Amino acid sequence: MPRDNKTSLIQKIARQASLTFTDLSQSNIGDNKDLITLLTEVRAADLKIAPRKPNGSKSNHKPPVTYMHICETQSFSMGVFLLDSGATIPLHDHPGMNGMLKVLYGKVRIRCFDKLGKSPDQAESQTQFVPPLQPFQKDSIWRAVLRATVWYSEDSGPCLLTPQRENLHQIDAVEGPAAFLDILAPPYDPEDGRDCHYYKVLQTVPDAVRKAEQQEEESWLLEIPQPDDFWCGGEPYPGPKVSF
Ligand SMILES: [Fe+2]
Repeated sequence: MPRDNKTSLIQKIARQASLTFTDLSQSNIGDNKDLITLLTEVRAADLKIAPRKPNGSKSNHKPPVTYMHICETQSFSMGVFLLDSGATIPLHDHPGMNGMLKVLYGKVRIRCFDKLGKSPDQAESQTQFVPPLQPFQKDSIWRAVLRATVWYSEDSGPCLLTPQRENLHQIDAVEGPAAFLDILAPPYDPEDGRDCHYYKVLQTVPDAVRKAEQQEEESWLLEIPQPDDFWCGGEPYPGPKVSF
């Protein structure tokens, strides 16, 4: 139930997100305690979303993931992703964008990566190790580092990403269906260089060619088209309206 009869929690979140992201010079979203506090509070019931049951009969025609659009301004977009049991949002990026993701029900595993450099030919520090590639793949490969693998539930705080840090992620529903509230700032806009790209982890870089001081797991990522088994449907948002 909304905790305030006059102003819904999602309205407060939208207003705070607008304040935070209209001035993008305040780019360290980790410091925005007000928005993080509001997001930590939000639950599925605040958005009038009932947790789904596992979908026993898998249909090829039913999208594994659906999206409920809540609002979009020039500075941010907000909506809810709902994942079927076992569904995955494949590894993808958010170029030049900030993101905040708060689980509403269920449990998700998020694996976050940072890109380290472009294709092996252009990497600053050359190593002898390059994964086997087709010639056409050479411009689509990135050296990256796995920053974190974290499990989130409704009781967790939001997962944050910035243009520089943990900007690539893969999201898996674990132990049943799950849903999360997603804020992206600024929104995706292919016209303005903010298109979504998908990646596949080719292989991890062997210890022998990793820099000695680099403790985190390095990988090669290959940019790929949107995977065939992933697509996102739409459904109406049933919760309180948001206005500015
Ligand atoms: Fe994402």
